[in-house]
Amino acid sequence: MRRARTGRRLRVTALGAGAVMVALLAPAGTAGADNNAAPAPGRNLSQQTAANLLAAMGGESYAYAKYDAYRQVATGPLAALWGRTADMELRQHFAHFAGAYGLAGTNKANLTAAVAGEAYETTDMYPTFAREAAAAGDQTASRLFTEIAADEAHHRALFAQALTAVNGGGGTVPAPPGAEPVKVVVKITTLKPHTLQNLLTAMHGEALANAKYLTYSQAARAHGSLRVAELFAGTAKVELREHFATEANLAGLAGGSRANLLVAIGGETNEAKVVYPDAAQQAYLAGERVIGNLFRQTAHDESRHAATFASALRQLTLPDGTAVQVSQSGYRHGSGWVHWTCPLCNPPRDGTGNHWGWAL
Ligand SMILES: [Fe+2]
Ligand SMILES: [Fe+2]
Ligand SMILES: [Fe+2]
Ligand SMILES: [Fe+2]
Repeated sequence: MRRARTGRRLRVTALGAGAVMVALLAPAGTAGADNNAAPAPGRNLSQQTAANLLAAMGGESYAYAKYDAYRQVATGPLAALWGRTADMELRQHFAHFAGAYGLAGTNKANLTAAVAGEAYETTDMYPTFAREAAAAGDQTASRLFTEIAADEAHHRALFAQALTAVNGGGGTVPAPPGAEPVKVVVKITTLKPHTLQNLLTAMHGEALANAKYLTYSQAARAHGSLRVAELFAGTAKVELREHFATEANLAGLAGGSRANLLVAIGGETNEAKVVYPDAAQQAYLAGERVIGNLFRQTAHDESRHAATFASALRQLTLPDGTAVQVSQSGYRHGSGWVHWTCPLCNPPRDGTGNHWGWAL
């Protein structure tokens, strides 16, 4: 983690098929207008829809990071399935919600938002998590939180320097921080529940930071600000490939194929049946038809994801030849538990404690 602060220059991580994101990320009239004040994100939206879009961006960015982690521990067609689905969560779903929300503004607005986010992580969130982990006896987690807090301080300084340059206050936009990519592996966590919950919060923050910075990077590129674009893309890489990946390994995010598929099916089904239909309904009631349609279409996509994952699950050969069952305590097949109620994904449960209707 400390080596990440050497300032080594990175190759820019492009989004590849990012045309959709480019088209949607900048509010009308802001492209090339970096000196103008950016409209506040979520402007002209009902309060409920703005909140729903923010939550949706959080969910989609985390789904991307989680499926990318699952991809790293899978092989063959299943790895390809995780990769394809992850890309869709980021490049379509997150990008569409970010566009509807007006997430990306001018470079000035985006850098200001990035400085604020990094400041929160370095002075508040990670120090608090480090203290609480130490108090719980989770020294490894405490050290990791402290190391990442130092990285975030460096990110804040880089973004602040870039902001000064963009504002005409002197200096140049700095090179991005160097990243030391960490491979996600299958692990079982031994952390105390509260530490694990904090770790989950941190992982959501890192996933969202990654997606936001990639969006800001695309906006900067569209503005012709290549150095700002590189700074955001390089920092995004640290957030995902170093911070999120290290935290995911400590949290035991990635399990076996069956466990990962079951977690994913639970999340997709909740989005398809509850989260996005509710958000669509609220948007329609507020007269926001286009955004209502976006939520409805995304619910349809998530339903297809759930069905595809369920199909993949059925194709896995269970060691004892029995079907996977869902009970009130978790998932199991035969006499062996596959996956308890997961403190990481917190899969949706109905009033009886069952996971949503996936008794396979
Ligand atoms: Fe999605
Ligand atoms: Fe950061
Ligand atoms: Fe981070
Ligand atoms: Fe999905």
